Amino acid sequence: MSVAAWRVKPAGALAGRVVIPGDKSISHRVMLLGAVGSAPLEAWGFLHSEDCLATRHAMEALGARVTELGDGGLRVEPPEQLRSPAAPLDFGNSGTGIRLAMGLLAGRRIEAELTGDASLCRRPMERVAAPLRTMGASIETVDGRPPVTLHAAGPLKARAYDMPVASAQVKSALLLAGLAAEGRTVVTQPAVSRDHTERMLAALGCPVEAGEWGAAVLGPARPRGGRVVVPGDFSSAAFFLAAGLLAGGDAPLELLGVGVNPTRTGLLELLRMMGGRIELCRLREECGEPVADLRVWRSELRGVDVPPALVPLAIDEFPALFVVAALAAGTTRVRGAEELRVKESDRIAVMARGLEALGARVVEQPDGLLIEGGGLSGGTVDSEGDHRVAMAFAVAAARADGPVTILDVANVATSFPGFAAAAAGVGLDIAELRTGAAA
Ligand code: S3P
Repeated sequence: MSVAAWRVKPAGALAGRVVIPGDKSISHRVMLLGAVGSAPLEAWGFLHSEDCLATRHAMEALGARVTELGDGGLRVEPPEQLRSPAAPLDFGNSGTGIRLAMGLLAGRRIEAELTGDASLCRRPMERVAAPLRTMGASIETVDGRPPVTLHAAGPLKARAYDMPVASAQVKSALLLAGLAAEGRTVVTQPAVSRDHTERMLAALGCPVEAGEWGAAVLGPARPRGGRVVVPGDFSSAAFFLAAGLLAGGDAPLELLGVGVNPTRTGLLELLRMMGGRIELCRLREECGEPVADLRVWRSELRGVDVPPALVPLAIDEFPALFVVAALAAGTTRVRGAEELRVKESDRIAVMARGLEALGARVVEQPDGLLIEGGGLSGGTVDSEGDHRVAMAFAVAAARADGPVTILDVANVATSFPGFAAAAAGVGLDIAELRTGAAA
């Protein structure tokens, strides 16, 4: 029986420590790069969430062997060559999984159908398929969406592509395709986007160049095996940053082992601009990624005009930012964030509906949201199957004027399977309602 809903009551002083689970983006890349390496890749801290497990199962269906090492580690053994899978590859809810796999497989003479759940089958795939076709890939989509059909093609021609949106998924898909292409594949970006693919390719010995302009890889190239440590996911830590700022006690809430790659931490800057007190401690580097422990104190927060350059650096954190804004003093304005409409849900519309259900005044714009801060009432909100919307409203409930029921929360397992237990562990009053008990 899966968890259908949460009922969360306003909480007093949240306190304690949370070990933040592994980074979802990096865990996908461990599977994908491990599957096409020249030797086994071992990883510690891999995120065992539904999204990353879907990518694991896809790589196994293509011939990779994945084994647990017993000490929390996991080994990905690449086959000599990937083979066409016997059945469609199901990426579940994961846009990262399907888009990066399209790039990885495009030049490897694979016949495959790539698909996913109802949410994924509404999301745009041509942003990846179209540039891959210009490299010589043979790919079909259904009106631009999954299922995606790949036909055997290769070798690909390396090419330069100027991305119209700052999308790390598009950039990464093309770089992964570039591993199987002859020559230099170059991807330029209109703004900085997350760079985990570039960092991991470099750590695994591939000839890659990267900067604010984008990235390039010289193919053909095969990542060497080795060992990587996956840092905690900043996007999961985000909910506890928000919770600590809104409902912390006298002592700080501590978040351990969090990845603080600057292409991911836009929210940190935004929360500080709003008056949030957050400290980074024990800054260190693990396998090319910066990691820190975070301490967050309850703070008086005010609204912010979000600088457009920070949007791609905080792209997954807007559900959390929106609830912080609704509970802060003054107005928050977000523009230039139209990408939020094609995430796991239309996050502008779904968050606007949820905030309005809790009494907030919001104005929806095509590319953002204007939020009048000042407080939230209790009530019922529908996450519409979006994991980050569900977790954001659980945090909002800590400071709402009454209990909040959040519907359709099962997909939280796609990114943060232990969220409810971790939140309860620091004092959030969260009850899980199983199927049939959510009325
Ligand atoms: C991701 C990139 C982002 C982000 C997604 C994960 C990645 O998407 O929203 O959750 O792992 O590369 P876009 O690059 O499409 O913005």
